[in-house]
Amino acid sequence: MSADNFDHLLAASITHGGLNQRQIAQILNFKLFGNPAGFMRLTQLPIGEIPPTPSSRESLCKDDDSSERLLLQAAALLGEPVGYVQESGGSIINNFFPHRTQSRAATSDSFDTELDLHTENAFHAIQPDYLLLLCLRQDPTSEAITYVASVERILDKLSYEEQLFFLNEPYNFLSDYGPSEKNQRIDIDKHQTVLYGDPDAPFLRFDPQFMLAFSNRAQSLLERLRDIAWSVVEPVRLDPGDLLIIDNRRTVHARSPFGARFDGSDRWMQRTFAICNARYYTERLGKQSRVYGLVTEL
Ligand SMILES: [Fe+2]
Repeated sequence: MSADNFDHLLAASITHGGLNQRQIAQILNFKLFGNPAGFMRLTQLPIGEIPPTPSSRESLCKDDDSSERLLLQAAALLGEPVGYVQESGGSIINNFFPHRTQSRAATSDSFDTELDLHTENAFHAIQPDYLLLLCLRQDPTSEAITYVASVERILDKLSYEEQLFFLNEPYNFLSDYGPSEKNQRIDIDKHQTVLYGDPDAPFLRFDPQFMLAFSNRAQSLLERLRDIAWSVVEPVRLDPGDLLIIDNRRTVHARSPFGARFDGSDRWMQRTFAICNARYYTERLGKQSRVYGLVTEL
């Protein structure tokens, strides 16, 4: 989709997004005040006519754009909807459904690989502030579960010393973005702490598969943090018309494996990201954009 076409869709989303006043208030509340779980969910949203789930991106054809408008209206309430060059070719709305060829790869398109808990794009200087996942169709046997663990719940299980450690100890966060695609493992010299921001109410970034520790202690605490995060996860099973909004600076998330039939009945999710400080990024990068490449430093 061209930038002009996208702007038309975004404008239409604001006036005809499909969210009612109560739902708009819930999203704004979540943005301004947050909640201990780090996510919110809206159900039974008007997603329009959903054609059979495609089995490849090339065969994706969706005439009714109700779900896209809904997703963008919600994203615009949280910040600026953005995309990444390495995700779905830079599309701001990403469609996820099982691909026969990618079933074993640990990407968002995969369907039978359990992903570990992670913050989205923890290595990226322009990290998404929110992740929005809209369910268009559940998997045929309703196995798919999304897990979310919030920093608040995790901190409850960490000692004061461990919290201090994670506020001060840098880890090397590897990039899974290459120049044009993802699923890489690249050292971009991104040394940063797991907890950051206000020590009394810190943000969290964590992606154990893409983090290198600098000491044995750091490695063992990384594993402990991962276990703690899994012990406090909240499972979410999404139905068609459910929108899950995840605060990506205060949570980690994962997804369970699920089956696919490739007959049009498979799970179909739409996703977008929202960022809260686009103008700051424009200032630092000297360029205005809704679609970012790999940015390692600002
Ligand atoms: Fe993710």
